[in-house]
Amino acid sequence: MAGTKTYEVAPSAARLTGSLRDIGYDFPTAVADLVDNSITAGATRINVFTQFEPNDSYVLISDDGLGMTESGLIEALRFGSRRTYETNELGRFGLGLKTGSFSQCRKLTVVTRTSAKQRAIRVMTLDLNRIERTDRWDITANETSPAIERAKGYLRESPGTVVVWEDLDRVLPERYAESGWGRRRLRSLASKTAEHLAMVFHRFIAGDVDGRGEVVVCVDEDKLRPWDPFAPDEPERTLLPEQTFEIETEDGSSEVRFRGVVLPARDRFSSLEEFERLSGPLKWNRQQGLYIYRADRLVQHGGWSGLRGIDEHMKLARAAIDFDTDLDEAFQINVAKMSVELPPALRQMLERPVQELCVLADDAYRRSANAGGRSEAGKGSKASETALRDVGIALKAAMLEGATLPEFRKAIATLRKRNPELAKQLHL
Ligand SMILES: Nc1ncnc2c1ncn2[C@@H]1O[C@H](COP(=O)(O)OP(=O)(O)OP(=O)(O)O)[C@@H](O)[C@H]1O
Ligand SMILES: [Mg+2]
Repeated sequence: MAGTKTYEVAPSAARLTGSLRDIGYDFPTAVADLVDNSITAGATRINVFTQFEPNDSYVLISDDGLGMTESGLIEALRFGSRRTYETNELGRFGLGLKTGSFSQCRKLTVVTRTSAKQRAIRVMTLDLNRIERTDRWDITANETSPAIERAKGYLRESPGTVVVWEDLDRVLPERYAESGWGRRRLRSLASKTAEHLAMVFHRFIAGDVDGRGEVVVCVDEDKLRPWDPFAPDEPERTLLPEQTFEIETEDGSSEVRFRGVVLPARDRFSSLEEFERLSGPLKWNRQQGLYIYRADRLVQHGGWSGLRGIDEHMKLARAAIDFDTDLDEAFQINVAKMSVELPPALRQMLERPVQELCVLADDAYRRSANAGGRSEAGKGSKASETALRDVGIALKAAMLEGATLPEFRKAIATLRKRNPELAKQLHL
């Protein structure tokens, strides 16, 4: 508009970087945000190292991905990197590398090399102490320290990127930075991180993602085994048919896929060890519910997103919800990629399938509690037993289509009374 005067009011680097430290990460989720970047860069091997050194501890996250050119590296260190994204790329905000890192440390260095032919190793550092002193968004080239030298060492063998976290003020507050407590804390954070990464990236680690092979992820030299909440190797689990829902976007619509699974009760798991393992980081009860995947990366692990409450009887119920990045806004994905909201239209559409899943899970739970073990198994052949159980599930699902929950329960009770043996065989 003619005559309108504008003033550029650039944010204060010192003030803003300080406040951006607290946007909801913890150590494992911050590392996961960097693993996102490595996966996007096409990495097939990702290593997380935690190194305790009195007053000089550090963390390295290395990958064998594409690496960055000099201008790419400079842009990567900008808060709000300027770039465009393809559908289903894991990045979105241009922030994760910086916000994730500074949630845990004060000095972030990125060491990178682009190809086997290109021998140059580039090193750039973003240091909170410097930013606070100068109030400028400056980065510095070619800093050195034992951690940075170690990172360069990895890239001498092959290209890729290593992110270095030093001055771990949030992880090891000053008075603990040289004590045994500090050492134990770093070790315990590493093991929580291993558990978190094995869950969040389980499809990538298992090689279940279309168009890419297995991604090997190691934490302190230990190779992670994928933690798949749906126990794909358990023969006694019940997979419900996949359902898809169309959700509107700004320029059309996009599909959300829903698939419910009733996990076997404890006595029907292949082993007690597997049952314990599948319990998950928050244990059976709190791991029931929805597992929401954004472009195959888990962004919510358990809970019912307000559709219902946690209930001991439903602890065998888990469901996968998959959405593509064109629904990011509808799902209100946050910077740390650890929280989403179900779009209201989807919430409505999910009510019935979730209820259906919960009825089946409740039933599996009660049957197991009443049967008191495997005593009923073994009558008739395994195949006919499974076939009858599947008929039972199909029957229940069909009945739920046309009946309310009380009507449904009444019908089952009548059948159990009239024909108890058949009801048992059908697992009703
Ligand atoms: N390990 C890596 N290998 C190659 N490029 C990387 C790596 N890490 C970061 N980058 C580059 O730096 C950019 C900035 O990363 P950053 O995590 O800050 O933002 P983003 O991934 O684009 O979005 P989000 O904030 O959603 O994570 C990336 O877009 C990518 O181009
Ligand atoms: Mg990122």
